[in-house]
Amino acid sequence: MKRRLALFFVLTLNGFQLCQAQQIDSSLGLKDHFKNRFLIGVSVTPNSLKGESGALIIREFNTLTAENAMKPSLIHPEKDRYFWTDTDTIVAFAKRNNMKMRGHTLCWHRQTAEWFFKDDAGTQVGKEELLKRLKDHITNVVGRYKGSIYAWDVVNEAIDDNEKNDFRSSLWYEICGEEYIAKAFQYAHEADPKAKLFYNDYNTENPVKREKIFLMIKKLKEQGVPIHGVGLQGHWSNKWPSSEELTRTIEKFSLLGLDIQITEMDISVYGSKENMDENPGVFTAEREKDQVEKYRSFFEVFLKSNNKISSVTFWNVSDKHSWLDNFPVKNRKNFPLLFDAAFSRKKAYWEVAKLVN
Ligand code: GLA
Repeated sequence: MKRRLALFFVLTLNGFQLCQAQQIDSSLGLKDHFKNRFLIGVSVTPNSLKGESGALIIREFNTLTAENAMKPSLIHPEKDRYFWTDTDTIVAFAKRNNMKMRGHTLCWHRQTAEWFFKDDAGTQVGKEELLKRLKDHITNVVGRYKGSIYAWDVVNEAIDDNEKNDFRSSLWYEICGEEYIAKAFQYAHEADPKAKLFYNDYNTENPVKREKIFLMIKKLKEQGVPIHGVGLQGHWSNKWPSSEELTRTIEKFSLLGLDIQITEMDISVYGSKENMDENPGVFTAEREKDQVEKYRSFFEVFLKSNNKISSVTFWNVSDKHSWLDNFPVKNRKNFPLLFDAAFSRKKAYWEVAKLVN
């Protein structure tokens, strides 16, 4: 008897969900559902703009970020050589389809070619030379896309995860001290005074890291550095963070009058970084349920944040391929996005769309 009752309940619940989904106009995309709230974006490669994936991008999103093309090592692989082709392709696609575009990223400790930090003899350069190189890089990259890119992740991940240190010990920091951060913003502002300039980082919902980022940006603002926003990368999971911590982060940064954007959102279905979860590679019913709940609660927070969030960008298009298939555990398939491997909308998609329908 108990079993029958339970079955009936599940069927009814599913019927309810389907019916909710059907009330939503499926010819609309996420960008349409959220059009009066915030932009909806996705990170792309020239390849993901093609075929079925490209059609999905046009239907669902109104802002793009280059997944890799604009990272320093790709766009500026050698001192006197820039590689523009991939970024030009993405910028042209955005223009053709009336989309906005975010620039990612001008200054980062990873994916930056070695030449930046070394002279011709292979010796590490000094502060003056490194800042000159940073200025040339930013001036050329931002200058080329002036008017096409409305917002830039100027500095990415400068704060350390280790509670004992404030700044990440990178070559940028070792050679220039924290001053490279202010300089990067200043150079970007000079290259395009109209662009919105962001500091971008992950783990922004960790109270200790949040406080360190807050203090860094507060100091930059007090010094008159042109910084307009903070990017919460949003690499989250079924287990973390809580919506309370996310709310605290948004409230805290908005005290500084900053524009807040979610710049790299995905929700890993795993709890462990060490492949300790049972059934790795399987999108179990429980994982699906937890993920639906997480997506719903995060979007509720964005909607309740009173226009403090101006854009939500997903990191990768669909579960067919995402960087989380290889990170932090190699070859462990993940299912972090709102579209499945066949580009169909997942339950989490409808749950999110339902919030504004
Ligand atoms: C960081 C970077 C992104 C990307 C992701 C992983 O969040 O900001 O550019 O490299 O890691 O794909």
